Amino acid sequence: MKLCILGGGGFRVPYVYRALLGDGGEPRVDDVWLYDTDSERLEAVQRILAELAEGHPDAPRVSATTVLDDALEGADFVFCAVRVGGLAGRTQDERVALELGVLGQETTGPGGLAYGLRTLPVMRRFAERVRAVAPGAFVINFTNPAGMITEAMQSVLGDRVVGICDTPSGLGRRVARALGADPAAARLDYIGLNHLGWLRRLELDGRDRLPELLADDEKLGSLEETEVFGPEWIRTMGLLPNEYLYYYYFNRDAVRAILDAPRTRGEFLVEQQTAFFRQARGLSCGAERLWRRTIAERSASYMAEAKDGVEHGEAPAAGAGSPTDEAPEPEIDGYAGVALALMNAIARDEPASMVLNVRNGPIVPSLPADAVIEVPCTVDAKGPRPQPVTAPDLSQLGLMQQVKACERLTVRAAFEQDPDAALQAFALHPLVDSVSVARRLLDGYRTRIPEVAEALGGR
Ligand code: G6P
Ligand code: MN
Repeated sequence: MKLCILGGGGFRVPYVYRALLGDGGEPRVDDVWLYDTDSERLEAVQRILAELAEGHPDAPRVSATTVLDDALEGADFVFCAVRVGGLAGRTQDERVALELGVLGQETTGPGGLAYGLRTLPVMRRFAERVRAVAPGAFVINFTNPAGMITEAMQSVLGDRVVGICDTPSGLGRRVARALGADPAAARLDYIGLNHLGWLRRLELDGRDRLPELLADDEKLGSLEETEVFGPEWIRTMGLLPNEYLYYYYFNRDAVRAILDAPRTRGEFLVEQQTAFFRQARGLSCGAERLWRRTIAERSASYMAEAKDGVEHGEAPAAGAGSPTDEAPEPEIDGYAGVALALMNAIARDEPASMVLNVRNGPIVPSLPADAVIEVPCTVDAKGPRPQPVTAPDLSQLGLMQQVKACERLTVRAAFEQDPDAALQAFALHPLVDSVSVARRLLDGYRTRIPEVAEALGGR
């Protein structure tokens, strides 16, 4: 099978390739095409993949190109993970908002809307080219903000685009493990939008085990989510929120913590990634080792603002994730695991259960049928089908509706080059507290990110 990776120069691509190397089933991917606009990054990633392939006689062949149609032509699967505007754009997404005293974050709040605005035109072009040169392909979208982007791509390609994220499955896995159970045996009652969802029940053998977890100090305390939200708030809610809800439930604290840190996440990554690609260019061997150390450092400092005592860019505490010579293997089941499991369930017609970003249809009647939501699905050769879930409660539904309205205004703004729709998206977002702030956000993003100005027609 041919797999095309849009954003093939991406830092997490080696995760995907490593997952492919470890996959012995049939049919399997034997032909990988990396597409990117940056040929230097493509070269560095190709070098890492070549090192990973050593000792694997049946490793998938890898080709790299800056010509979109060459990468897409005849693909069976397309993985899509691009960052329009690069990490420089991510930094502006953060800073423009932070300077106005509101949350500045990659996907959540106004930063996510700015990121969406500039990404949508590119994704529409990708979807149109898939339809033209790879009409049979199934598209797996990781590009953030993943819910909004997937919804927009579905307007061109229909249900053959599915959005994925590692956070809901990661949450399910952590909870199952804390209960001493096999994550594969757990049935999740999860609903939301991407980066805005709630695990209300986790069933093992037909019985909800969340109450047991919430009642147990030690088990609850072992979860990353408890570090983020604190045990009291989790117990008060009686459920487990997706970690990104930290930015809603602890908004002021989050803004404060990010402002107090010496650098934003984007700024940390600009430094880290620039150094990585510069070093990788000069290496004749050892690129894979350098990648492993760098990604371990990246994982160890993930969402530091939500976790006490850790600061961006500081050497993480010794132990898991330390970027030492003994750097442990980064987790493989996250990002790449979800993608590979989805692809295999479809290609091999092996039914699997996973949380995906799919069309709402009739699931939440008070959201548009063509809205993309995040829910557990059963996947086989026919594609994903949502499993029955409990209806969202009033507060969950309210947040989903409000944020979805902002996402759809953003899509309209980008597709119709309509700055008024963009202003409404910023102004109506729950994390933006005034229309005057929304106006300054829009101005700031248009001035400081050329791709945002362009998406709105350059006006
Ligand atoms: C998780 C989320 C992704 C997000 C990433 C950010 O994996 O699911 O959607 O892009 O974290 O991680 P980073 O290392 O870039 O801050
Ligand atoms: Mn995600």
